[in-house]
Amino acid sequence: MQRSLFFLVILGSALLVALAWAENPQVPITESGVVAHGPVRVGNLPPVIAPADNPQTSAKILLGKKVYFDTRLSKDNTVSCATCHDPSKGWSDSGPTSKGINSQMGGRRSPPVVNAAHSRLQFWDGRAPTLEEQAKGPIQNPIEMGNTHDAMLRTLNDIPGYVTEFKSVFGTSPITVDQVAQAIAAFERTVVTTDSPFDRFVQGDVSALTPLEKQGLEIFNGKGHCSACHWGGQLSDGRFHNLGVEPIEPGKPDEGRRAVTKSERDFGAFKTPTIRDVAARAPYLHTGKEQTLEDVVRLYNRGGGPEDANLDPMMLPLGLSETEIKALVAFMTRAMTSTNPEVADVKPIPAAELPK
Ligand code: HEC
Ligand code: HEC
Repeated sequence: MQRSLFFLVILGSALLVALAWAENPQVPITESGVVAHGPVRVGNLPPVIAPADNPQTSAKILLGKKVYFDTRLSKDNTVSCATCHDPSKGWSDSGPTSKGINSQMGGRRSPPVVNAAHSRLQFWDGRAPTLEEQAKGPIQNPIEMGNTHDAMLRTLNDIPGYVTEFKSVFGTSPITVDQVAQAIAAFERTVVTTDSPFDRFVQGDVSALTPLEKQGLEIFNGKGHCSACHWGGQLSDGRFHNLGVEPIEPGKPDEGRRAVTKSERDFGAFKTPTIRDVAARAPYLHTGKEQTLEDVVRLYNRGGGPEDANLDPMMLPLGLSETEIKALVAFMTRAMTSTNPEVADVKPIPAAELPK
């Protein structure tokens, strides 16, 4: 019974992957064309598509950037989005979990804002459907920015510089919470990756990867089964899996995706993160408990964490050698690190240059 369930799951996943691939065909990636799991592909990202009701304009993007770096959105003026999603820390923070106002620690690691625009759902449990919806959350999360939307709007509407800029971008006054969220989301849609050594390799520059990185890519897409979940341009299926990750507090498991679906099957399942720019944002996983990429690979090599009834059926011991582990880490490090200035070179806007 368990076996047939397992095969059903594999068959189902293969079908979904095949369907997604049919929409998004990518060129074969390795010189030897290694594709161990049917039509699984990794490749370049398509351009970001903004929603029809929030078109990108350069004035809106710049305004969103200012808001993103502005600590005045928080209750006590100490925390901005960039506190926990810091461009110099891979658009995440140094973890293990994030520190909000009054130095309160959150219960999950801060995921990266890079390429969040390419995620189908936001948050580790996928509870927000869009970047706009997501952006409203942290402002009134008591342990993140600790504010209320009303109080934040009073603050912003008291800053003449913001009132003028929002009016010129959105055409109306006073500033609303939807406008704040739309401006932030427009900025986030520019923090995307098109240019890593991996991207250049996919486009045909075979010298863009070192031999070790190429071996890593082959293992990623073959023996390691990594691209079974980390696939497509985002190197994520956008779905939720239980890797048997040990909870932050022993005996207090995080329910993960179950909070949204109310389905027992989703207990302890978390969203597959992108592998893009992953080297810049240690520590890893939703708990921030794995310190290095090598630690993460060793977790997979063991077949995931401790016994867990909901462990994803893909979590099986891999039998990777030390060289193969090194190769996977090399692939995820330099080869997946992008050089896009919108990702790599963004500097915080100093408080003195924010609207007054
Ligand atoms: C105190 C730290 C903190 C602050 C401040 C903060 N975040 Fe986050 N952010 C997090 C954590 C932790 C999560 C994951 C929470 C979860 O999944 O339950 C998250 C999730 C996200 C995600 C989803 C990413 C993904 O891959 O699912 C985005 C996008 C994001 N935050 C943007 C923002 C924006 C925009 C702001 C400012 C309005 C902000 N954050 C403020 C810690 C923070
Ligand atoms: C069954 C689906 C699945 C497979 C197979 C898989 N991953 Fe993951 N990966 C995930 C999920 C889900 C997470 C987040 C889990 C969590 O935090 O609880 C993750 C997290 C990661 C992270 C941490 C990223 C971060 O930002 O914290 C890395 C690195 C990673 N995987 C690499 C790999 C590699 C390398 C392989 C192959 C050896 C692999 N994955 C195979 C689903 C998968």
